Amino acid sequence: MTGRIEGKVALVVGAGSVGEGYGNGKAAAVLYAREGAKVFAVDIDEAAVTETKRIIENEGGVCATHTGDAMKADQVEAMVNACMGEYGRIDILHNNCGGSIPGGPAELSEEDWDFQIDFNLKTAFLACKYVLPIMEKQGSGAIVNISSIASRTNIGRRLCAYQASKAGLIQFSNAVAFQYAGKGVRSNCVVPGLMHTPLVEARVAGQAYDGDVAKAIADRDAMCPAGKMGDAWDVAYAALYLASDEARYVTGAEIVVDGGVTLKSF
Ligand SMILES: NC(=O)c1ccc[n+]([C@@H]2O[C@H](COP(=O)([O-])OP(=O)(O)OC[C@H]3O[C@@H](n4cnc5c(N)ncnc54)[C@H](O)[C@@H]3O)[C@@H](O)[C@H]2O)c1
Repeated sequence: MTGRIEGKVALVVGAGSVGEGYGNGKAAAVLYAREGAKVFAVDIDEAAVTETKRIIENEGGVCATHTGDAMKADQVEAMVNACMGEYGRIDILHNNCGGSIPGGPAELSEEDWDFQIDFNLKTAFLACKYVLPIMEKQGSGAIVNISSIASRTNIGRRLCAYQASKAGLIQFSNAVAFQYAGKGVRSNCVVPGLMHTPLVEARVAGQAYDGDVAKAIADRDAMCPAGKMGDAWDVAYAALYLASDEARYVTGAEIVVDGGVTLKSF
């Protein structure tokens, strides 16, 4: 532990993982704890967030958990109140919730469109809605939003709702950054590329590769100029920088963590 965020309180929304191993939110929660933060880990899946807490406590870190749906205003308000009840402040808000359902406008159902906008964008809005007044009162705070390179490029799949919502998340983050720049509150995005997280096995392989996990991994690796996908720790270390005081003059920024994928033309 090097204490890069020693003594801070980090509220991580979507802090579990859909499968074994480390998703982006879980890795961020564990890394924040390793670097000295007290973590408030929230997830819709109690077992997943309990596993994150178990890892953090096994390593000697501090973690409290809360189960709730980040797409529902009353549950987000309850989650923020619970974090305040536990630790009395919120220094870092990490908005990790998100995911894709494939389809262009003609194929995608209205329900799947609405779900993705809510999952990728409304979750960040609701968390900010209840956390920002607290950070403003504190005179300090750092918000880290997890976007995607799908916000700026095409990765060979039809993902219109995911692309639109992840692009919207960046501009939402920028709007918050601008409004709160004079109040000590920063808002930034990490923009991951093709990462090998449990999501690949749990969802992507089924959505785009008829459940063929080996093909999904090989195909995604081949799309990366580095020859290999990144992983959840690559995303977590970028988030750690943005969450820390090392980034005290950084707001409205995007850190692309993609091994050069967006430099490539397909
Ligand atoms: N893996 C990639 O290649 C990749 C690339 C770019 C961006 N991303 C982004 O990273 C983020 C997810 O990464 P991950 O690896 O942590 O995914 P994950 O699905 O493993 O973890 C997300 C966690 O969020 C929880 N969750 C789902 N719905 C929720 C809700 N309504 N309320 C509260 N919690 C909820 C899940 O239970 C899960 O534990 C997403 O925003 C995704 O778009 C991933």
